[in-house]
Amino acid sequence: MGNVVASVERDDPAKVAVRPQLQMQSLQDHNKKVLFVTSEITDLVKVGGLGDVSSALPRALGLRHDIRVLIPGYRDVMDSGNPIRIVGKVPGHAALPECRIGRMDLPDGLIIYVVICPELYEREGSPYGDAQGRDWPDNHIRFARLGLAAAEIAAGHAGISWSPQLVHAHDWPAALAPAYMAWRGQRTPSIFTIHNLTYQGLCDAECLSELGVPAEAFTPEGIEYYGKLSFMKAGIVYSTHLTTVSETYAREITTPELGCGLDGMLRSKAGSGLLTGITNGIDQSWEPGSDTHLIQGSTDLERDGKRVHSRYIEEKFALDQDIGPLFVVVSRLVHQKGLDLTQAVASSIVEAGGRIAVIGRGESLLESSMKELAASHPGRIGVHIGFNELDARRMFAGSDFLLMPSRFEPCGLSQMYAQRYGSLPIARRTGGLADTIEDGVTGFLFSKASAASYMEAIQRAINVYQHPELLNAMRRRAMVSPLYWQESVKPYDQLYQHLINEKVPRLLATDVGG
Ligand code: ADP
Ligand code: GLC
Repeated sequence: MGNVVASVERDDPAKVAVRPQLQMQSLQDHNKKVLFVTSEITDLVKVGGLGDVSSALPRALGLRHDIRVLIPGYRDVMDSGNPIRIVGKVPGHAALPECRIGRMDLPDGLIIYVVICPELYEREGSPYGDAQGRDWPDNHIRFARLGLAAAEIAAGHAGISWSPQLVHAHDWPAALAPAYMAWRGQRTPSIFTIHNLTYQGLCDAECLSELGVPAEAFTPEGIEYYGKLSFMKAGIVYSTHLTTVSETYAREITTPELGCGLDGMLRSKAGSGLLTGITNGIDQSWEPGSDTHLIQGSTDLERDGKRVHSRYIEEKFALDQDIGPLFVVVSRLVHQKGLDLTQAVASSIVEAGGRIAVIGRGESLLESSMKELAASHPGRIGVHIGFNELDARRMFAGSDFLLMPSRFEPCGLSQMYAQRYGSLPIARRTGGLADTIEDGVTGFLFSKASAASYMEAIQRAINVYQHPELLNAMRRRAMVSPLYWQESVKPYDQLYQHLINEKVPRLLATDVGG
């Protein structure tokens, strides 16, 4: 808390004057005021792709609009070294404690509001659980507090001299923001973006009173989900508009297979033009020439730079140094990512002359089976359990292929990072993977979640590897294929403008066939 000071909120004119593009341009153009509510932002705290999107999208939209981010004051946030000024306060509600609102201006001008509540957020562990990976038992209170703080700021009740014209909430931890706004009769429009429908934020019906949720909202048309309270459903029901992170996933979540029991409701939203698929982009830090994580002087990833980075991986993962394709896995170790499929084909990859390096952390069973896999293939398979941005980036840079056999994938960013760094993804034809990989051109796709279907794609990749001119041609296509957010942000921009101007953006809705 050493960086926290109390003050009245205002934009520091000296800072605005020296700030690059971000602030200066946001004063022009459309300049809509938007509160971006999220539980992760890579600058301060990251678990997965949500953190990356929460860091990149407000900056890309910030070129046109005044986007400010609201996050919980986790220990990593409070101790980040960026000064925090106290600019407001929100009252307690039911079991949600009163909290202060701090403002942190990141060096490039991005404004972050922090919900300061030490008893809820300043703990050892990840945003969602303890160091052993167990969810915090009071997550419903922690994230309801986030949602309600957003609603209070939107209502102008937080004592902050800025209030948004739109609230953009992300995934279940932020999903109660639109709900509290609706229960309180607030008219500010809201967008709820689904990054992953499988994490729903369910809690027992008894939590209703703790969260101060009106009893009449606990119905199947409201926030009840088979006798429980569902944060995810609250976001779906009460937001003005829904988006998700790829066009294919927008269709998939309206089917029983991937709709997680919410497909009926999502079909009806889609039928009314209220569900839009907008594919994620990547941020400017994924530019090999200027990425300081890469080995300096070796950023030509079409040629020598790749070799230099593969040497780094070989050393780091104790892999044999020889020719033969180098496959990598950079992933949260969770069921979604299909790691059991990679385990099933690993010996065949090794027999075909390949080597595999894996970095990830997640479910303890997957962590231990991955370690066993490495132990039974010394020199050919190396596994690091953990999270390390530098190694992850060097793995994209030094590998020939990224293995990403996800069972489902709302968008996926790793395949785009790999492409940008000249590593061809081998991935399942699902969600955003289907939308961002062109089979046989910028990567390899397979359809069935089976080892046989996966191996067929891997075999095609190995064939390409044996023809360097083909491999280089695909690499070149892959490297220019992912879009930077600046190029892909337009649908959000249009949606913001339509909603703030009170027009329902039917033309933008993904066509899911009724
Ligand atoms: P998800 O959000 O489902 O995990 P994405 O592909 O959208 O999947 O985003 C994953 C992000 O997390 C990427 O930035 C990826 O590089 C990063 N990541 C995953 N595992 C690790 C790890 N062990 N070390 C470093 N970065 C990782
Ligand atoms: C979720 C999804 C992933 C997506 C990311 C960012 O974590 O699992 O597919 O890329 O959110 O939207």
